[in-house]
Amino acid sequence: MKIKKIGIAAAAFALVAAVALSGCNSQPAASSSASADSSAQETTEAVLVNDGKLTVAASLDFPPFENLEGEEAVGFEVDLMKALAEQMGLEAEYLPSTKFDTIIPLISAGGKADVGVSGFTVTEDRKKEIDFTDVLIDSNQGVVVMPGSGFTNIDDLAGKTIATQSGTTGYDWAVENIPDANVVPYDEMTAVFAALQGSQADAIVADLPVVQYYVKTAYTDMEIMAEIPTGEQYAIVVSKDNPGLTAQLNEALAALKANGTYDEIYNKWFGGSAE
Ligand code: ARG
Repeated sequence: MKIKKIGIAAAAFALVAAVALSGCNSQPAASSSASADSSAQETTEAVLVNDGKLTVAASLDFPPFENLEGEEAVGFEVDLMKALAEQMGLEAEYLPSTKFDTIIPLISAGGKADVGVSGFTVTEDRKKEIDFTDVLIDSNQGVVVMPGSGFTNIDDLAGKTIATQSGTTGYDWAVENIPDANVVPYDEMTAVFAALQGSQADAIVADLPVVQYYVKTAYTDMEIMAEIPTGEQYAIVVSKDNPGLTAQLNEALAALKANGTYDEIYNKWFGGSAE
């Protein structure tokens, strides 16, 4: 591994932008580095697995956040990672699609990728293993059923088979909230939808924007039975050993929010404005 320091001028600009933006940057690293010169240098140091690159591990099955178009990763988070990398003087490089529930272990082990970006909901449990950056975007859960299923509310799904993605907040939500359900974890979102389509499951629980996307584009016969306001927030997963990278990503994110790039990307994928 090599140590890479981001250009001081760019980092300083981003820091000023971050501080000027609002009081929402709760990273003590960023605010303390504004006053103490030597610690400022320390806190902007990031370790990268490949020099000049921001190497990203992602489960590329989560449109419109990250998906494969041929060989290429596309989506809201993909565009955001490219812009964040550029802001940091780096180039974003996506690894081949990585199974969702292996990404946090991969990031905490280190050496393969710098960040995990896959619609990762910030949770207290995950925070024990890895660090999260500031929030990228809000999300909720959705429940999908086949038309004519007769299921109209959560209690109708008691004792039924629920398809979810392994290691997700949707899996946890289904286990905790659907009485006696048989909650089946699948590796990929495509398999989750195939299970409902093929009658191996009675319903799907997964992130609302993603099920909305799948139902609108690919599984147009399916129905969103319920929207669950779980109030989730996505952020970037970084190793606890790399606080400098987390701080730099937060600074770059604040800069993209201040200069309109974040809004442009949001608008491209969701229409309208983020705020
Ligand atoms: N937001 C949910 C979670 O953090 C689901 C994320 C699934 N991501 C994916 N790329 N398949 O658990």
